[in-house]
Parts: sequence; C-alpha cells; structure tokens
Amino acid sequence: MAKTVLITGANKGIGFEVARQLGRAGFTVLLGARDASRGEEAAGKLRAEGADARYVAADLSAASASASALAKQIAEEFGQLDVLVNNAAIFLGAEDGHASDVGIDVLRRTFEVNFFGTVAFTQPLLPLLRAAEKAQIINVSSGLGSLAINGDANSPYFHAKALAYSASKAALNMFTVNLAYDLRESKVTVNSVCPGYTATDLNNHSGHQTVEEGATAIVRLAQAAEEGLTGGFIHKDGTYPW
Ligand SMILES: NC(=O)c1ccc[n+]([C@@H]2O[C@H](COP(=O)([O-])OP(=O)(O)OC[C@H]3O[C@@H](n4cnc5c(N)ncnc54)[C@H](OP(=O)(O)O)[C@@H]3O)[C@@H](O)[C@H]2O)c1
Repeated sequence: MAKTVLITGANKGIGFEVARQLGRAGFTVLLGARDASRGEEAAGKLRAEGADARYVAADLSAASASASALAKQIAEEFGQLDVLVNNAAIFLGAEDGHASDVGIDVLRRTFEVNFFGTVAFTQPLLPLLRAAEKAQIINVSSGLGSLAINGDANSPYFHAKALAYSASKAALNMFTVNLAYDLRESKVTVNSVCPGYTATDLNNHSGHQTVEEGATAIVRLAQAAEEGLTGGFIHKDGTYPW
C-alpha cells in the first residue's frame, strides 16, 4: 500500500516541491493549505503530473480544530498516517528585527503560527502516526533557530538577526526534542530539518537555492524512516548544532 504523507503549507514554495517529489515517489499526498482554492489548484497540478494528491484543509491559525477535523477524515479513509511534514510557517520580513526593539505583537503573531500552531496541529494527529508501522514527523525548521549558530561570530548567519522568526524556530526545535522523548518507545521518529536558504515568497526570492534543492533533505528523510534517526536536526549536507 502507498505511504501517506501530510504536508502543511504545501500550496507553494518548499512544501509544494516536497509534495511534488513525494508524489512522484509514489506517496499518497495530502496537500495541506489554509486556503481552499490555492490548495485545490496546487493538488490539481500534481494530479496532472500523475500523482495521487488531494487538497486537505490545514490552517495553523485554528490549528487544533483544523487538525482534529483532518484526523477524523484521515482515520476514516486511511486509518493511519506515515509522514507528517510540519512545513507551514511565516516570516514577517521588515517587521521582524532585533532583540532590542522588535515589536511584541510581531513575536506573538510569528509564534502563533510557527510554534503554537504547529504544536496544536500535530497533537491530534499523533494517534494516526502511532497506528502506522513506522512513522515520521518532520518539523521544517531553520539554521536561524539554532542557538549555537546565532551565537557564533564565525557563522555566515551571525548577523542575520530576526528575533521573532529565529526564536519561533528555536522553540520548534525544542518541540522536536521533547516530542522525540515522548515517542521514544514508539515507532514514530521526530526530527527538525533545515531546507537551507531557498528562493521562495518567504524571503522575496532572495534565497540562493532552488526549491528542488530546498526540498532535498525533507524528501530524503521522508523516504528513509528505516534509519531510525530521532531527535535530530539535519540539513541536506549534514547536521546542525542546537
Ligand atoms: N525559504 C527559505 O530560505 C527557508 C529557509 C529555512 C527554513 N525555511 C522554512 O521552510 C518552510 C517553508 O517555507 P517557504 O520558504 O516555502 O515559504 P512560503 O513559500 O512562504 O510558503 C509558506 C507556506 O506556509 C503557509 N502558511 C502560512 N501561514 C499559514 C497558516 N497560518 N496556516 C497554514 N498555512 C500557512 C503558506 O500558505 P499561503 O500561501 O496561504 O500563505 C504557504 O503555503 C517554512 O517552515 C520556513 O520557515 C525556509
């Protein structure tokens, strides 16, 4: 039977490319989007390429309710979920900024989606992941969420300070480590993955990688559950320090 993957924020950017590549690899793709028309359009594109892809409602601003409804739908149709890719996130661009003066509302809005939304979306789906023979939760994080990289004056990202986004990804990394602990006796692995600096709407296409390159580490991990890695933080060329 084909493996089933649910990807949030999959109507565009890295999430869409992950959906496309896993669709090509034979996964049944549940293409999560907060907007029905954008989600339907993206899923239609993948179906036109021959993938088994369908749009599902996945709104991290109402994450708990959205995931509970979706869990029911997936339970009825598939009885389990093999891979959850928590990809959806926001970066508030010029509104984000330095620790000395970034707006508290900017921190709250960013955490609402990137951290609270992701945690609330994941929890109702855990029984479906536990029901699979082997399952994976892939939290799409960022090197900017690494405390070690932020504090390293020799890192190329040392001066890239955006407190709301970076702190939300650091919190997401803590979710990875803590959830991996909770699931350590189960067949569900949990990891953080950084796609690398990729040209998407998130950064006004300033990233130096293509979406194909950005999807690499996520797609590779989704296809290699047998490695058994859990509680890790990886990128396409290796691992990151927390
Ligand atoms: N691009 C990079 O350089 C880079 C680097 C490191 C990490 N990342 C991470 O990679 C992931 C994908 O980013 P991307 O660059 O592909 O960004 P993107 O092109 O801006 O796509 C973000 C996706 O998240 C969705 N989204 C935003 N808010 C949402 C909400 N409240 N509920 C549900 N979905 C929501 C968006 O939906 P709409 O279309 O409806 O807005 C869109 O589908 C993110 O976790 C990001 O932090 C990206």
